[in-house]
Formats: sequence, structure tokens, C-alpha cells
Amino acid sequence: MEVHDEMSKKYTARVRLASFVVAAMVWVISPAKAQTVEQLLQEMAAIEQDASARQQALKDGEERAQLCFRCHGQDGNSKRDYIPNLASQNAAYLFTQFEKFANGERQDYVMSTLAKHLSADDRIDIALYFSEREVEPREPQVEASAAGERIYNSVCFACHGKEGHGSASYPRIAGQPYEFLETTLLKFLHNDPSRANSPMIAVMKNLDEQQVKDVAAYVAHMP
Ligand code: HEC
Ligand code: HEC
Repeated sequence: MEVHDEMSKKYTARVRLASFVVAAMVWVISPAKAQTVEQLLQEMAAIEQDASARQQALKDGEERAQLCFRCHGQDGNSKRDYIPNLASQNAAYLFTQFEKFANGERQDYVMSTLAKHLSADDRIDIALYFSEREVEPREPQVEASAAGERIYNSVCFACHGKEGHGSASYPRIAGQPYEFLETTLLKFLHNDPSRANSPMIAVMKNLDEQQVKDVAAYVAHMP
């Protein structure tokens, strides 16, 4: 009973925080323009090559990201175990997740609402801003797992890299909070509609829940 009360209190606090932030964002942010994801990723790559455009984008990104800070941290290091770090994540991945939240392929109450209200420029600037911050993983709440290490080195390294740092095409996963990793991997495992059409669904087909926990624990400890 007490545990249940604690959980529902925690949930209510989350929903309250979420509603506040969404209301503030919708008020502050302008609606998105219509351009294809490909065009926008090219625009972002061009900005990264041009020193003064890049500096302006980082400055605008920091300003536009103000309302992300209370969950993802000013430096992109998340404040809660269920929230992912954005720091050191590759910019193209951050950008494409906004598109997925906006078009419904990926669903989260706060993120889906926010993404619809970010302009194309905001998405580019914010993605660049967070990708250039330095990730500082917290000490995970779980033990590292040798079984998880074996799974990582036989399956995951092929796309996410030996170090889990990802690449231009794959997300960085090293040092994400354990709760985020476990929840996310279980969504892929159970083909949850909140992460539809992900290549990870096929990857998870050969794992069971215990293996998911083991590999999540290993990845959470990766520097
Ligand atoms: C109320 C808390 C909250 C706020 C405010 C918030 N986020 Fe999030 N964000 C989350 C949560 C929780 C997730 C994980 C959702 C999931 O599990 O799919 C997330 C996921 C993301 C992701 C996907 C990252 C990944 O590794 O998969 C990006 C990108 C992101 N947020 C960017 C932003 C930006 C940019 C802002 C500000 C405009 C913002 N968020 C504001 C809570 C928040
Ligand atoms: C065939 C390539 C491939 C393999 C193998 C692979 N992944 Fe992924 N992974 C991806 C891609 C692509 C994404 C981005 C998914 C998306 O956008 O929906 C991803 C996303 C993820 C995410 C979500 C990251 C975030 O911030 O939202 C996690 C966690 C993850 N992978 C963990 C793993 C683990 C653990 C393994 C090994 C069991 C693994 N992956 C194996 C390609 C792969």
C-alpha cells in the first residue's frame, strides 16, 4: 500500500512537471516549417562546416534549449534515471529523434508535444548544442554484469561500436542511465508502439528479459 502510494506520488510529480513544461514550451516556441529530414540534415552538416554559422547555431541552441534543462540538464547530462543524456550524443541522431517524436513513430507525452512545436532551425540548433556538451555519466544503481558484457561483445558492438560511442549513423549508448536503458530495451523487445519501426526490434528478437537487464547494466557502466 505504502509502496503504491510512493509510486503514485512519484508519477503525479512527473505528470505535474511535464504539464508545466509543455505549457511553457507551447507558449514560447514557434511552429515548424515544412522541409524534408534529408534536406535539414544536409543543412545541419553545412552549418557544422562553417565556423561562424556553427557558433551562431550553438548560441541560439543554448537559448532555445532553456526549457529542456530541468530534465536533460544544462550540459545535457540528465537529472533523472528515466531521462536520457543528450550530451555527446551525435547531432544527427538527436535531430532525427525530434522528427520521430513529431510524426508519432516515437511517443512520449512531453517529448511528442515539444517536438511538434520546435521549428526546423530550433531542432538543428538544439541538436548541435547538446551534441557538443561533454557527457558525465552518473554512478549506476546496479552492478556491472559479466553476462551483459558477453552479450554486448557478441551483438551490440557491431553497430554501436566497441566503446558504445556510436557513429554518425548509430546512437551513443555508453553511460546512459540504467532505468532509461532497461525501459527502452524492453520497449524494443515487446515491440511497443512508442518506439515503432526501429531496427532495434529485430536485434532484440533473440534476447530474453534477463539478458536485457544484463546488457543494460553493462552499458550503463560503460564510460
Ligand atoms: C519533463 C521532462 C523533459 C523535458 C522538459 C524535455 N525532455 Fe526530452 N526526454 C524526456 C524523457 C523522459 C525522454 C525519454 C523518452 C523515451 O523514453 O522515449 C526524453 C527523450 C529525449 C530525446 C531522445 C534522446 C534519446 O537518447 O533517445 C531527445 C533528443 C530529447 N528528449 C530532447 C529534448 C529537448 C531538445 C527538450 C527541450 C526542447 C527536451 N527534451 C525537454 C524528458 C524531457
Ligand atoms: C544492426 C545494428 C544494431 C545493433 C546490432 C544494435 N543496435 Fe541498438 N540501435 C541501432 C539503431 C539504428 C538505433 C536507433 C534506433 C531508432 O532510431 O529507433 C539503436 C538504438 C538503441 C538504443 C536507444 C538509444 C537512445 O538513446 O534512444 C539502445 C539503448 C540500444 N540501441 C541498445 C543496443 C544494445 C544493448 C544492443 C545489443 C543487444 C544493440 N543496441 C544492438 C542499431 C543497432
